[in-house]
Amino acid sequence: MTESIRFLMCAPEHYDVDYVINPWMEGNIHKSARDRAVEQWQKLHHVLKDKAVVDLVKPEIGWPDMVFTANAGLVLGDDVVLSRFLHKERQGEEPHFRKWFEDKGYTVHELPKDLPFEGAGDALLDREGRWLWAGYGFRSELDSHPYIAKWLDIEVLSLRLIDERFYHLDTCFCPLSGGYLLYYPDAFDFYSNRLIQMRVPPEKRIAIEEADAVNFACNAVNIDSIVVMNKASEGLQQRLVDVGFEVIQTPLTEFLKAGGAAKCLTLRVTEPVLDYVHANAPVESRVIHLQGHLLDAGIVNKALDLIVENGGSFQVLNFDLGQQRQSTSKAEVKVSAPSHEVMEEIFSMLIDLGAVAPPQETCDTNTEIVTQPGVAPEDFYVTTIYTTEVRVNCEWVKVQNQRMDGAIVVKNTPDASVATCKLLRDLEVDDRVIVGVDGIRTIRKQEARDREPSGTEFSFMGAGVSSERRVELVVEQIAWELRQIRDRGGKVLVVAGPVVIHTGGASHLSHLIRHGYVQGLLGGNAIAVHDIEQALMGTSLGVDMQRGTPVLGGHRHHLKVINTIRGCGNIAKAVEKGILTQGIMYECVKNNVPFCLAGSIRDDGPLPDTEMDLIKAQAEYARLIQGADMILMLSTMLHSIGAGNMTPAGVKMVCVDINPAVVTKLSDRGSIESLGLVTDVGLFLSLLVQRLDKLTSPYPISQTL
Ligand code: ARG
Repeated sequence: MTESIRFLMCAPEHYDVDYVINPWMEGNIHKSARDRAVEQWQKLHHVLKDKAVVDLVKPEIGWPDMVFTANAGLVLGDDVVLSRFLHKERQGEEPHFRKWFEDKGYTVHELPKDLPFEGAGDALLDREGRWLWAGYGFRSELDSHPYIAKWLDIEVLSLRLIDERFYHLDTCFCPLSGGYLLYYPDAFDFYSNRLIQMRVPPEKRIAIEEADAVNFACNAVNIDSIVVMNKASEGLQQRLVDVGFEVIQTPLTEFLKAGGAAKCLTLRVTEPVLDYVHANAPVESRVIHLQGHLLDAGIVNKALDLIVENGGSFQVLNFDLGQQRQSTSKAEVKVSAPSHEVMEEIFSMLIDLGAVAPPQETCDTNTEIVTQPGVAPEDFYVTTIYTTEVRVNCEWVKVQNQRMDGAIVVKNTPDASVATCKLLRDLEVDDRVIVGVDGIRTIRKQEARDREPSGTEFSFMGAGVSSERRVELVVEQIAWELRQIRDRGGKVLVVAGPVVIHTGGASHLSHLIRHGYVQGLLGGNAIAVHDIEQALMGTSLGVDMQRGTPVLGGHRHHLKVINTIRGCGNIAKAVEKGILTQGIMYECVKNNVPFCLAGSIRDDGPLPDTEMDLIKAQAEYARLIQGADMILMLSTMLHSIGAGNMTPAGVKMVCVDINPAVVTKLSDRGSIESLGLVTDVGLFLSLLVQRLDKLTSPYPISQTL
């Protein structure tokens, strides 16, 4: 018997499943058999007494889970960090365990109230004593880890649990002697798995399957080369034997009903301190500020979910709820992350939501110099569609040319600092590019209450995807907006796909162009080809547009048309020569509405006007989009997304497509300015023209203009 190893156990005199605080307890209230529980506990006690000393703490009435002494606290040397239970159902155990530790002469450390940490259930020492693995996600809070690191002077590696069945680290993770690790990888998030792989070499990792995991095979007590557990499959037993362990199985089914097994029923109270290990908790914390209609717009929820989903944890330090209908609320939130890397990831997402770090924190963003043309420094900040400001010389500077998926280049001249969005391919050697997330904020328009009263239920501000029934109302709104923009000399761009032609929308779109509602057209080869096919031959992709039936040999039409235009030189020349006399492209030429047709791999021809150099096409799209007030995206996912990426927030976008997926994708830009309509685009255009008719004058548009 090894005298130096001691365990603490608590007899199951008052054990029962009295409540539900983990998924195992569900459906098991008062279902565990007392006699069998006692017998199983005694067997475990017996097995352990053979190998170590077992101390007992007196069971207390009313605290049925006290048998799970792993949750009493975490011991290292003469120090113990006492548990702070998350659930009130177990909080009453704390004083009893505290007393036991004090009586035995331990130095007891107590965490601040409301900072849950459930002892050795969630904190497991590497059996070589090199570091502490600590779990969070369900019972223990990430913010407890730095305290533990400090008090126990040991490096803490934080692991995030993501499967509620494995709510304590010791239900799915068991460090073994010799540096081995028995664990169930699926219980951990990606980052934690990577951390495990970085610390434990592959030959020492014993990853188990779900079937063993749900038998609590990881909830094992390891004493030197012995591993005591409820149950293990033949395969797992063999794997353990192969690396030199002896497996002792002892059934603990009555305790599984409460969500515990061998390891939970014990607490190792002798854990030697190694002199050469020292505290280090990579857990990082930062404070962020959020301001706006935090509740109405769901921003707080989004922010807090985002923190947790990405492996961090939070504490709301202050929440100032605005008092009036119009007033905004303010929140101050402390964000913690298990490493600097995770913090940066979370922080960049919070910035996109409009969060800011307290301004006094950073005077200048971090920058790095470009050393290879067209390549940004590794950690460059990726831009969004939202107006962005960056700290330069302790001032907030607004970023120019805002668009998404770019990098920010900062230039300092003696009188001013300029920050500009640049695409990766446009980066030049010696450009100073912002890296990391410090000193960056995005400005979100105030949503919800401070919007202008719009009169109807459907406004751009109340974005969303509308169903067929609502189409008419929305069209009315769009017509009104179009009219406003035209009358004040604004700019509307149309991004259109060939479906506009197939669905009979060509004449309506031509109408809009003719009457000054469109200031630019973006598309691909196809919209132009089909429009011209209809103009010259009355078919679209070989289908007679009057009768809706395919015409004989019609599939050759579009090639003939391409050939004709090629013969003329380009579309404008075909108009000039009087060959092209109607349709969308004709109206563009006649009304001096610029267009850009971006090519693609599947283009037939192409038309001479189609820009097959995509970098040039992107630049031309971006040029035309500049200064736009509204973009109508009509049934083309490819070109709409392309255009959307170049468009800063604040430009109204209307996306019409029969496929709801396309509409959802495009209207997901923050709700202020995007509006999605799931409907037939031809129908939409015809309704829009009718509506505009009514707005313009008592006479139909066609008669007045
Ligand atoms: N019913 C107990 C709880 O949910 C079980 C504790 C198991 N202990 C453990 N170290 N995993 O808290």
